[in-house]
Amino acid sequence: MALFAVFQTTFLLALLSLRTYESEVLSEPLSLTPELLKVSVNSTHQCLHLQWTVHSLAYHQELKMVFQIQISRFKTSNVIWVENYSTTVKRNQVLHWSWESKLPLECAAHFIRMRSMVDDARIPKPGFWSNWSSWEEADAQNLLGHDPLFVFPKDKLVEEGSNVTICYVSRIHQDNISCYLEGVQIYGEQLDRSVSAFELKNVSFVRKKGTNVFCKVDQGGVLGGIVLFVSKVLEEPKDFSCETQDLKTLTCTWDPGSDTGLTKQPSQSYTLFESFSGKKTLCKHRNWCNWQVAQDSQETYNFTLLAENYLRKRSVSILFNLTQRGET
Ligand SMILES: *[C@@H]1O[C@H](CO)[C@@H](O)[C@H](O)[C@H]1NC(C)=O
Ligand SMILES: *[C@@H]1O[C@H](CO)[C@@H](O)[C@H](O)[C@H]1NC(C)=O
Ligand SMILES: *[C@@H]1O[C@H](CO)[C@@H](O)[C@H](O)[C@H]1NC(C)=O
Ligand SMILES: *[C@@H]1O[C@H](CO)[C@@H](O)[C@H](O)[C@H]1NC(C)=O
Ligand SMILES: *[C@@H]1O[C@H](CO)[C@@H](O)[C@H](O)[C@H]1NC(C)=O
Ligand SMILES: *[C@@H]1O[C@H](CO)[C@@H](O)[C@H](O)[C@H]1NC(C)=O
Ligand SMILES: *[C@@H]1O[C@H](CO)[C@@H](O)[C@H](O)[C@H]1NC(C)=O
Ligand SMILES: *[C@@H]1O[C@H](CO)[C@@H](O)[C@H](O)[C@H]1NC(C)=O
Repeated sequence: MALFAVFQTTFLLALLSLRTYESEVLSEPLSLTPELLKVSVNSTHQCLHLQWTVHSLAYHQELKMVFQIQISRFKTSNVIWVENYSTTVKRNQVLHWSWESKLPLECAAHFIRMRSMVDDARIPKPGFWSNWSSWEEADAQNLLGHDPLFVFPKDKLVEEGSNVTICYVSRIHQDNISCYLEGVQIYGEQLDRSVSAFELKNVSFVRKKGTNVFCKVDQGGVLGGIVLFVSKVLEEPKDFSCETQDLKTLTCTWDPGSDTGLTKQPSQSYTLFESFSGKKTLCKHRNWCNWQVAQDSQETYNFTLLAENYLRKRSVSILFNLTQRGET
């Protein structure tokens, strides 16, 4: 009962401070407008990362809020993404949000802004949007050098069957630039005076050294290119089984399926886990592994074989009974 009373008081106080706060807001232009603290570009992951805060939340311990985030490309009026991000906000908290771009971020300037709305059941008043924060620019193009023609993404690693967007940025104001995938011309969409994008659908594995994409100015000899690393899809190990001749060493074997190794990515690795003993071993071979039987003569083994590469993990489990000397 006492606890409830305390809670109610806190609740009333919170409401009161919000009311006071709201009435202050009417004469105070700041309101709950979020302030973007930092917009950073992660080129490797083609991600924009935002950090922001809501200064005027200082009166409250915690509040549920929705942030509406807008992303524009080339110019602020060209909005390409709108998302409502709901979260609980604590005072002085720095909030984070990331967005993955299909278009490599080096090919275009991006602009971000956001606004917020209180969406908390404790506050019955219907929500209203705050003002927008000011636009912040995320420009990865200033990372470029002085070459006349750039192609992106650089050295990207994807799985077979993915769709990949390639783009070029040209510093030469000439229309005739053509691009080729493994020597075959590809056709894209011009996004801007100097930027074009090409969507490659369902890319396939060509070779371990990667797939070549290049663009060139038709009469000028200027070239730009990239290597796209297309990995085969990691398969689940098949026919996984263990056996022993001497009750001291178990030999586990499997069919690994296709090798996903590339210049950019080593072949998949295999690790054997045993859940009852909690032990594991990194397998030295791609299709078999030895397991030493412990002194305490464990009878039943639950083996999990984990296959992994940079892009994916796959696992299979079997139960093995030592006295039966075979897979159960
Ligand atoms: C929004 O901005 C306008 C003009 O900048 C200002 O007059 C108004 O008070 C602001 N509203 C809120 C809710 O902050
Ligand atoms: C990019 O993001 C990945 C994963 O979120 C992270 O591991 C990496 O360190 C980031 N790179 C940079 C340059 O921030
Ligand atoms: C975000 O929320 C607003 C208000 O609830 C709604 O009108 C709008 O459609 C939502 N937008 C998206 C992209 O979900
Ligand atoms: C690639 O694009 C096609 C057509 O737009 C779509 O159906 C498919 O789901 C996409 N594949 C992936 C892996 O996103
Ligand atoms: C561009 O290519 C077209 C057709 O291939 C040609 O007619 C035109 O003269 C070229 N323009 C330049 C500036 O090279
Ligand atoms: C993707 O390409 C492979 C051959 O490279 C083909 O077998 C498969 O049907 C294609 N998938 C789609 C969705 O087009
Ligand atoms: C064997 O181990 C796997 C992975 O830890 C687990 O999912 C499974 O339930 C275990 N099976 C038995 C019979 O303990
Ligand atoms: C293992 O096999 C032996 C002999 O068949 C049997 O007695 C024992 O119960 C089995 N243990 C388990 C856990 O299945």
